[in-house]
Amino acid sequence: MQNFIYDIDTKIYFGKNQLDNLIIELNNLGAKKPLIVYGGGSIKANGIYKKIIMLLKSAGLLWEELAGVQPNPRVETVEEGIKICREKNCDIILAVGGGSSIDTAKLIATAVFYPAEAWDIVKAPNKIVDALPIITVVTMAATGSEMNTIAVISNMKTKEKIGTRHPLMRPKVSFLDPTYTFTVSRYQTAAGVVDIMSHVLENYFSRYRASFIQDKMCEGLLQACIKYGPIALQTPNNYEARANLMWAASWAINGSLSLGKADPWSCHSIEHQLSAYYDITHGVGLAIIIPHWMEYVLKEETLDKFYEYGTNVWNIDAGLDKESVARLAIAKTRQFFSALGMPEKLHELDVSETYFEEMSEKAATLALKTAYVALSSEDINKIYRAAL
Ligand code: NZQ
Ligand code: ZN
Repeated sequence: MQNFIYDIDTKIYFGKNQLDNLIIELNNLGAKKPLIVYGGGSIKANGIYKKIIMLLKSAGLLWEELAGVQPNPRVETVEEGIKICREKNCDIILAVGGGSSIDTAKLIATAVFYPAEAWDIVKAPNKIVDALPIITVVTMAATGSEMNTIAVISNMKTKEKIGTRHPLMRPKVSFLDPTYTFTVSRYQTAAGVVDIMSHVLENYFSRYRASFIQDKMCEGLLQACIKYGPIALQTPNNYEARANLMWAASWAINGSLSLGKADPWSCHSIEHQLSAYYDITHGVGLAIIIPHWMEYVLKEETLDKFYEYGTNVWNIDAGLDKESVARLAIAKTRQFFSALGMPEKLHELDVSETYFEEMSEKAATLALKTAYVALSSEDINKIYRAAL
C-alpha cells in the first residue's frame, strides 16, 4: 500500500573536504564534548583521525575516545562507551568508520539514558526514551547506517546478532567524503558492494507490488553497484566509482526504498545467524546466501518478479521464456559476487552444519513467515545446507 510517512532528517555533507564543516555542525547541535567512536585503527593509518583532532583542537573543544570497535560490534563495547559518556559528560557521539562504529555509537547514544543493561534495549527498543545526538563520518560504503535508524549489535555469549531500530538512532549529520573510502581493502570493498545490493534486493523482492517508483529506484541502485563495484576494485582511487557506491549505500537502506512495503528481510535474518555463530563478514555471508535464497524462492508465484529483475537489471533478452530469464538472472548474480572475489559456499568460511538447526530456528522467529516468500525453520535449514 502506498500509504506512508516520509521523514529522513539526516543532514548529508557529500564530497571532498566536507568534513571541514564539522565544527559548524557541532556548534549547531550545541555540543561541547564529543565521544569519538572508531574501530581498529584504519582512521589513524589514513589520516582521518588526525584531521578530526586538528579540527576539534582548533575549535578549543575537548573530546573522549572509544577505540577498538570490532566488525560485528559487541554489546560489551557499547557498555564501555556508555561508561565513558557518563563519567566524562560527553554530550554527542561522533562515529568515525563503517557500520560497526556507527551502530555502536547509536546504541551508546540511546542506552546512556537507560538505567539497566544496553542489551535490553537491543532486544526491546521501545525502552528508548532519549538519545544524545549522533554525527557520523563514513569511511566505507556498505551498511548505510549513516542515514538510517538501525543498529546491529552482537552478543557473542548468547550467540545473538540483532538488528534493532528506533527513530532516535538516526544520525543528525553525516559526512560522506568518497576519498575516505579509497583505502578500504578489496575484500571489504567487495563485501560492501554485496551488502548494498542485498539491501536493495530485500526491498525489490516484495509482496507489495504497487511501489513502481521504489522498484525503479532499486533497479538504478543495483545497476550502479554492478557498474562501479568492479571499477572500485580495479582502481581504488576512482572518485566517480567510490562516490556512486557511497551514495548508493545510503539510499539502499535509508527507508526510501521500503516506503509502501513491509516485508521482513529474509537474507539478512539468515545471514545474521552466520555472523553471530561464526563471526564472519556480513557482506561475505550475504554473497553466499543470496543466490541460494533466490533459487529456493523461485516458483510460479515469483517468476514474474525474477523476470523483471533479469531483464531490467541484468539486461537479459526479454524474448526468452520467463524461467530461463529467472535462472540466468540468478546465475548472473552469483557470477557477479564471485567475480568480486566473494566465496560461493559456506564451507570456504569453515562453517559446518553443526548449528544449522538452532540457527534456522532463530532466523525463522524473525517474522520470516510474512516475508516475500514465507520461510519456516525447515526451509531455512535447507537453504543453509544448499549453501554449505
Ligand atoms: O576497524 P577499522 O580499523 O576501522 O577497519 C575497518 C574494519 O576492519 C575497515 N575499514 C573501514 N573503513 C576503512 C577501513 N579500512 C581501510 N580504510 C577505510 N576507510 O573495514 C572493516 C569493516 O568495518 P565495519 O564497520 O565492520 O564494516 P561495515 O560498514 O560493513 O559494517 C558491518 C556491520 O554493520 C552491520 C553488519 O551486520 C556488521 O555488523 N549492518 C548494519 C546495518 C545498519 N546499521 O543499517 C545494516 C546492515 O545490513 C548490516 O547488518
Ligand atoms: Zn546488510
